[in-house]
Amino acid sequence: VIPAELPVFSPANFCWQRGEGAWLYDQDGQAYLDFAAGIAVNGLGYNHPVAVNALLEAAHRPWHVSNLYACPERARLAQLLVEHSFADTVFFANSGSEAVECAIKMARKYGSATGRYRMITMEGGYHGRTMGALSASNRPLVKDGYAPLLDGFDCVSWEDAEAVAAVITPETVAILLEPIQGEGGMRVASATYLQRLRELADAHDLLLIYDEIQCGLGRSGALHAYLHSGIVPDVMTIAKSMGAGFPVSACLANKRAAATMHLGSHSSTFGGNPLAMAVAYAVLSEMSKPQLVAQVTRVGSYLMQALMQLATKFPQRIKEVRGCGLILGMVCEDRAQALVQACHRQRLLTSTAGAHVLRITPPLIIDESHVDDAIGRLHSALESL
Ligand SMILES: Cc1ncc(COP(=O)(O)O)c(C=O)c1O
Repeated sequence: VIPAELPVFSPANFCWQRGEGAWLYDQDGQAYLDFAAGIAVNGLGYNHPVAVNALLEAAHRPWHVSNLYACPERARLAQLLVEHSFADTVFFANSGSEAVECAIKMARKYGSATGRYRMITMEGGYHGRTMGALSASNRPLVKDGYAPLLDGFDCVSWEDAEAVAAVITPETVAILLEPIQGEGGMRVASATYLQRLRELADAHDLLLIYDEIQCGLGRSGALHAYLHSGIVPDVMTIAKSMGAGFPVSACLANKRAAATMHLGSHSSTFGGNPLAMAVAYAVLSEMSKPQLVAQVTRVGSYLMQALMQLATKFPQRIKEVRGCGLILGMVCEDRAQALVQACHRQRLLTSTAGAHVLRITPPLIIDESHVDDAIGRLHSALESL
């Protein structure tokens, strides 16, 4: 018998009743410290007054007007994103995959006049589950059984710019990567690698596309992850923390990348709806405050130090700690899921990224006291294994 819900997930048996800041409360009123944040979505934590008020205000105005009419909420969010990034223009969608789909289509359109359509992608990359986005991945679980996939993706090893150079052909149009891999295990691309990719893109007239859906919007300790290296993309996708839990995403592009997109080239019924736009505007206004990213940098390095100390204490369990800001990973000797479950017993929420990496992506609003508390719980969890 198939369950009423398509059985593609296996959720842990919690039923969250309430959330406040970095804390979630279950049906018995037990408090859990949340260092998963809905897989890097709840950047402002739970019940943040700025996000809640924006949603409540928008709820009394029309929720949906369609793209037939101007939407001031959409216009002002696009303006804010343009002011706070490299981009000249923005397309709004509802999920990360849809933002990636827009980026793929933009690259295809960019290359269409010259017969170029191939995109170079990275081993370990994850871009979502729509047919285009999953075709860009090299993960068997994501792709199995869905052939024929979208043609034209050439996957190469991570951090290997020469491998990228080697697969460029006259049909190549773009390079797509996460500047910090999320599902791939919190791997941070080096500035020299990104620099070389930018040079290759410029030399061959390719679009450099960053997928910042997981690592963007403050999580890395900068508003956008590309700001760390200063190596600027032509196209960038964002989602996850953009709506503090409200589904919304965007594909940002410079003039060159967007030049071939014109009236009717792309669309979305719900993309850019007033509710999502009002919430995302409030969230982005909060995230673009210098204090927030400064806090993420400070607390993130405090957390990183503490995790490294744990790693030296439990060398038989933890092989490496990596990441930056508040997108951190602990590479485990054994399967990371056992540690997630041990953390549950200590009322600490974490998640996995691949089989062996414990993913640590707390809300961005945490301070050092949350870190001390989480480290105590993680210590007990590691001892209990
Ligand atoms: C880097 C990256 N790109 C794309 C996606 C897909 O986003 P969504 O699940 O909202 O379609 C994700 C989701 O985890 C992601 O981490």
